[in-house]
Amino acid sequence: MAEDLQIISGTKNEQYEALLPQIEALISYETDLVANLGNVVAALKEQFQWFWVGFYVVKEGELVLAPFQGPVACTRIRKGKGVCGTSWEQKQTLIVPDVDQFPGHIACSSLSKSEIVVPVIRNEEVVAVLDVDSDAYNQFDETDQYYLEKIVELLRF
Ligand code: SME
Repeated sequence: MAEDLQIISGTKNEQYEALLPQIEALISYETDLVANLGNVVAALKEQFQWFWVGFYVVKEGELVLAPFQGPVACTRIRKGKGVCGTSWEQKQTLIVPDVDQFPGHIACSSLSKSEIVVPVIRNEEVVAVLDVDSDAYNQFDETDQYYLEKIVELLRF
């Protein structure tokens, strides 16, 4: 059984430093991917209270909605489309301080204002993306990129 997540206050750096070993512990004994994706998004949502946190997994040439926390969302995204599809195509993390300034941004919710998308890369191919949305502008920076990239590295796809 999972123990309750220890939620901490402090700088963003401190919050991630406290969260990282807990996420590692949560997923280390479980081999089921959906279970682990579910717990990773739940842990991130609990700690940071972001508007939307979730995975899209590459299936049959599209990104398909996978475990998430937040309002209902678009279920399928094609390569090169939106922030998620662009992150997939470019194989890199994208930080979007104002979603209205990102050409082709897919608005699953009008309340989403800024976003970070982190690709999960295995054998040089993107197998999924982690998408985090905030209802405030300018919420994501290199600290989020650094730690979210570390967190997705922990997942066994
Ligand atoms: N905004 C994303 C779509 C996914 S939702 O935000 C959950 C995009 O432009 O790819």
